[in-house]
Amino acid sequence: MSQTANPATPATLDSGAAAQVSSSASAQVTATGARDRYAVVGNPVSHSKSPFIHARFAEQTGEPIEYTHLLAPIDAFVPHVRAFMEAGGRGLNVTVPFKLDAHALATTLSPRAAAAGAVNTLRFDADGIHGDNTDGFGLARDIEVNLATPLKGARILLLGAGGAARGVVLPMLERAPHTLTIVNRTAEKASALVDQFSAAAHAAGCRLAGGSASAIEPGAYDVVINATAGSLDAALPEFDDGAFGSATLAYDMMYGARPTVFMQHAQTLGARAADGLGMLVEQAAESFYIWRGVRPDGAPVLAQLRQLLAAPGAA
Ligand code: ATR
Repeated sequence: MSQTANPATPATLDSGAAAQVSSSASAQVTATGARDRYAVVGNPVSHSKSPFIHARFAEQTGEPIEYTHLLAPIDAFVPHVRAFMEAGGRGLNVTVPFKLDAHALATTLSPRAAAAGAVNTLRFDADGIHGDNTDGFGLARDIEVNLATPLKGARILLLGAGGAARGVVLPMLERAPHTLTIVNRTAEKASALVDQFSAAAHAAGCRLAGGSASAIEPGAYDVVINATAGSLDAALPEFDDGAFGSATLAYDMMYGARPTVFMQHAQTLGARAADGLGMLVEQAAESFYIWRGVRPDGAPVLAQLRQLLAAPGAA
């Protein structure tokens, strides 16, 4: 991957060095001093912002948790997870490159994790290892709540058909949009996603189509989501400028200290642009809810992270 002047990090990966934030997980301690243990497992993982985010959630909710980084060797994900469980760990967030391993390890899967084919949240219960995927939920919540853009009845264009795109299709369909068009450089992969999710789209009353850029329909979309890895290389995916209008929200699932090339291009076309930092926070909030049954407020934590990202020397 080439170095660029505008480094970006995928919200779904949470592994970049775009911002230097504290990784110390401070949480409220119970009267006995006992705190439930959680961690983010990945390789690399030291730059993950999840410990910072979950420490803020613990402060906010008063939940007695401790949340740390867990570095696992590439070929030893399962023994590291089992050792964490045996030491009393209650749950894990899973980041690159282990989301498929976590999917294979889970003994039960949520429907959205099964549809995504990847797991970013593990919960350890008496009856086994539960796998979930909160990435798509985090994206939908960021768009609808933080960015005040309804998805119900919306025309959505999804750019990309890799793991990141696949993980968000079902949560998007669950919001009952009018149209979901999936476009990818390799058109067959977009068509395969359309086939995979055609029944779910039918159930949601959504028109689902896709393929190459020629599948983009005339007229501005309400929401255009960039789920390609293009922003990592400051590359623009193929699309039609006509898809963007003044009422369009252009959402890049990547984030960085500065707007991505996709965001900049969308802005020149008159669209409103957002990056994936809110998705990162909201997927974490949903993981916290899965573990603790309490939903933290993502907005203040997002504001704190945004400030840290904008601080001189953060990029
Ligand atoms: P991820 O899990 O992050 O989605 P991936 O599965 O490797 O990673 O998928 C990367 C996505 O970004 C794919 O949709 C890829 O397009 P192809 O399927 O044609 O490879 C897309 N992508 C990567 N670089 C791109 C670029 N420069 N322009 C357009 N699309 C790009």
